[in-house]
Amino acid sequence: MAEILAIYGSPRRNGNSSLLLREAVRGAKDAGAVVDEVVLRDLNMSPCLEIYGCKMTGRCAIQDDFQPLHDKLISCRGLMIASPIFFYTVSAHTKILMDRCQALWVKKYWIDKVLYGQWDAKRMGLFITVGATKGKKLFDGVLLTVKYFFDVLDMQLWSSLLYKGRDSEGEVLDHGEYLQEAYQAGWDLFHAIQNMQENRK
Ligand SMILES: Cc1cc2nc3c(=O)[nH]c(=O)nc-3n(C[C@H](O)[C@H](O)[C@H](O)COP(=O)(O)O)c2cc1C
Repeated sequence: MAEILAIYGSPRRNGNSSLLLREAVRGAKDAGAVVDEVVLRDLNMSPCLEIYGCKMTGRCAIQDDFQPLHDKLISCRGLMIASPIFFYTVSAHTKILMDRCQALWVKKYWIDKVLYGQWDAKRMGLFITVGATKGKKLFDGVLLTVKYFFDVLDMQLWSSLLYKGRDSEGEVLDHGEYLQEAYQAGWDLFHAIQNMQENRK
């Protein structure tokens, strides 16, 4: 089982969020983590079809590349997910993944009948995003989306790295401080996960 799952949500392989996530992965691996990397644009994943085939089992009924990713999502100890800002939220690739996790929402709140807000985070994760503009509200939408995504995963949103004003592919490479921050976040996330596991014993 991989300790940390790293999910790349940009359509650009060397996009800004991808490069930052790659640094976070490097940091986590240098700290000792086993990291499994998934590039969403390489997967064949349907959007949620809202058929609620998950109602009985809590498992999505659509048979595609989401199925192995579902298993990775529920078994990892930590998550790192990166997406560009597209229309004030995550990319379509990332949103498709999130919507497919409605099956986990169904499991948690309909099948297992967990009371809203009454659960302990068992795992933790990091969110990385980059947008081109600089407005005050640039991250308001995405942070709400990510908050509720982490909720269905029983995960604490341990930290978010939010970058503004970067548009062209690879622009973050001119900002060593961003790359350093992402590397450090990966390193620190792994240690935070280890501490959380120790405290739960
Ligand atoms: C479809 C699309 C929608 C976008 N929407 C926004 C937006 O709402 N706000 C913003 O600041 N930038 C927006 N951008 C710019 C990207 O967020 C920016 O280029 C970012 O650096 C891309 O990250 P990536 O290289 O990791 O894909 C958009 C770009 C695209 C292609």
